[in-house]
Amino acid sequence: MSNSSNYKPTTRLVHGPEHSAKWDFSHHVTPPLSSSTTYRLDSAERGARGFTEFGRRVHDEGEPPVYIYDRLDEPTRSILEGELCDAEGGEVCVTFASGMAAISGAMGSILVPGDEVIAHPVVYGCTHSLLVNWYPRLGFGVQRIDLNDIDTLRAAVTERTRILYLESPANPTLELIDLAALRAFTDEVNAQRPPERELLIFVDNTFATPFCQRPLEHGAHVVLHSLTKNIGGFGTEIGGAVIAPEWMLAGLMLYRKDFGAILASKSAWAIMVYGLPTLPLRLKRQQYSADLVARWLESLEGIDQVAYPGLESFPQRELAERQMRDFDGDFAPGNMIYFTIEDAKLDTTVFLDHIAKHAYSVTLAVSLGHTKTLIESPANMTHSSYSDGSAGSSRGVRLSIGLESPEDILHDLEQAIQAARRQHQSA
Ligand SMILES: Cc1ncc(COP(=O)(O)O)c(C=O)c1O
Repeated sequence: MSNSSNYKPTTRLVHGPEHSAKWDFSHHVTPPLSSSTTYRLDSAERGARGFTEFGRRVHDEGEPPVYIYDRLDEPTRSILEGELCDAEGGEVCVTFASGMAAISGAMGSILVPGDEVIAHPVVYGCTHSLLVNWYPRLGFGVQRIDLNDIDTLRAAVTERTRILYLESPANPTLELIDLAALRAFTDEVNAQRPPERELLIFVDNTFATPFCQRPLEHGAHVVLHSLTKNIGGFGTEIGGAVIAPEWMLAGLMLYRKDFGAILASKSAWAIMVYGLPTLPLRLKRQQYSADLVARWLESLEGIDQVAYPGLESFPQRELAERQMRDFDGDFAPGNMIYFTIEDAKLDTTVFLDHIAKHAYSVTLAVSLGHTKTLIESPANMTHSSYSDGSAGSSRGVRLSIGLESPEDILHDLEQAIQAARRQHQSA
């Protein structure tokens, strides 16, 4: 039998594992969609063994796991987890019901009251809300520090600090964090700590996906995903994933079992059968269009600042080239653009309302990483939990480029810009 590890990641995303201890994979061309809440246990001994072995890593060459009950573990989800692990180059993966369930589950599985998280100031709005609204209640400390500023970080870290939390690129401003520099810093800190109190780097890789960037290769300890976005890809499933070192597996599985935020097997199946195999294809096309749109936006009067890691003007372009590489090693700046409209020249609300009412190829809607191009105003929508404007101004616009013809996207954006310009001139 051929060995899938000799094949490229793009091929592995199409075929998955040729053998999986999670299921009799070898007789299915399309992986099975299992939909059973409970499992026949065969004997009292096997049933008891299922509970004892719960939360242990199942090696593909080993015995199949004893499935007991869907909320504990389930084959379709398990196969998807194996594929996500492979794509990110991690040891274990645990999926969750949503990206937020994965983020809260990953941190919740290791934090104890008194521990502290240091998070980069700009993160997704609900992650910000988790940190400011819930963590103080649970006894978890939170500091917000620019994670590219290692000197300030060094002064802030205490023995209570357990997690450095970030997104790179950050939602919505696309700011990047230098992961290798951060890892050099945590190695320094961890040299003085026992292994069970290691300082860990958590990276939400939702914007880039493993196609554009694999944070573990640059030093991250844990990778998080909203599978709802580009990995799912079609805007039909909500899901999340944590890719982590093996020692975290038991805690993640226990947390998921007891808090209950499991990924539905039907969603896991759709993400595995439709999302993953088409991820490289979709991203390449979206990236091509994003580059055209970003360059066009940059040339317009009335647009203040365009952030896209593929632009020469991107302030962290050198870091982008270092960190954001696709499976073939090519620069992969992704499909997300953030820009700011100059108030003095254009009205942001008129621009967005014109899109909502008249555009066909661009949709005013939150979420991202969809086949359809989506546009939104983060400060007023996805990031409205920030009360201080630190996640971008109200003139900021986030664009997630889809699979439409780029000429059509440009046409719809141009019509909206002209409408905003006309309104401004007549005001
Ligand atoms: C960067 C990032 N992380 C996490 C999430 C949360 O994902 P979900 O909506 O699947 O809970 C989002 C959602 O927009 C996101 O943009």
